[in-house]
Amino acid sequence: MAVNLKGKSLLTLKDFTKEEIEYLLDLASDLKQKKRMGIIGQQLKGKNVALIFEKPSTRTRCAFTVACVDEGGHPEYLGKNDIQLGYKESVEDTARVLGRLFDGIEFRGFSQDHVNKLAKYSGVPVFNGLTDDYHPTQILADLLTIKEQFGKLKGLKFTYIGDGRNNMANSLMIGCSKIGLDFTLVAPKELWPNNDLINECEGFSLDSGSKIVITEDIDKVKGSHVIYTDVWCSMGEEEQAADRISLLKPYQVNKELVLKTEKDDTICMHCLPAVKGNEITEDVFEKHSKVIFDEAENRMHTIKAVMVAMI
Ligand code: CP
Ligand code: NVA
Repeated sequence: MAVNLKGKSLLTLKDFTKEEIEYLLDLASDLKQKKRMGIIGQQLKGKNVALIFEKPSTRTRCAFTVACVDEGGHPEYLGKNDIQLGYKESVEDTARVLGRLFDGIEFRGFSQDHVNKLAKYSGVPVFNGLTDDYHPTQILADLLTIKEQFGKLKGLKFTYIGDGRNNMANSLMIGCSKIGLDFTLVAPKELWPNNDLINECEGFSLDSGSKIVITEDIDKVKGSHVIYTDVWCSMGEEEQAADRISLLKPYQVNKELVLKTEKDDTICMHCLPAVKGNEITEDVFEKHSKVIFDEAENRMHTIKAVMVAMI
């Protein structure tokens, strides 16, 4: 059956089938090629998209803005001091107002409940641009980047190392298990993902034929095609920095760790922004910077695909 995502929201990739994710990746790749050839579309002409940001952003904000303008649409940035979401006006009422005026809403903030409510009450597609729990648009860019590097996704070994219970670890586990990448998470036990989510992803991986391994053992990076890391302190967790650094120091992506893959075509990825010297050393970052910045660019092409497909 043909994939049709019109009117759907992207709150977490849990709500998407393997075929729908593949469709978005193919569409993103096509839009990327067209942009390279100077072919600009009009698929969002006459459409207005609200961009709500409670937390700061470089990539996500710019990707939504450029993607929307490229396709003839109008993005409207609403920063944390511009609206009174959830404190002077309820999320439900803000959603109903924005839904009357806009054709789509992006939300970046703390609460997954807020983005879910925006989708429920606005009546227009809502895109999760990062919450404490999930960062689904980032995963689409990551999957596209891996596909560009290896020509396929299924059967590759993907290893995430570092803070194993943050929005990136959660979303990568969902994305990999949905699409059929073998997913290994290497982190101290205190920072493992929550058991309900692991169980849910194990269900996805049964369907896609992939495998999930959660371990404290850094030697388990052996055989990885991809090593992925993220900051040790996510936005809003700054006061935990000292504890996290001492807990995660053995899980740094450095030359020695990459050697443990015993492979010479392993790529290292990072959603950015990076804290070099913490989760990744400067030399490893620079060695893999081509892929890391392809990944950053792919935020725009994949977000464009999401808006074109769903609005
Ligand atoms: N990767 C990512 O979401 O970057 P920003 O925080 O700059 O949007
Ligand atoms: N885990 C990070 C991701 C940034 C894109 C954070 O939430 O700050």
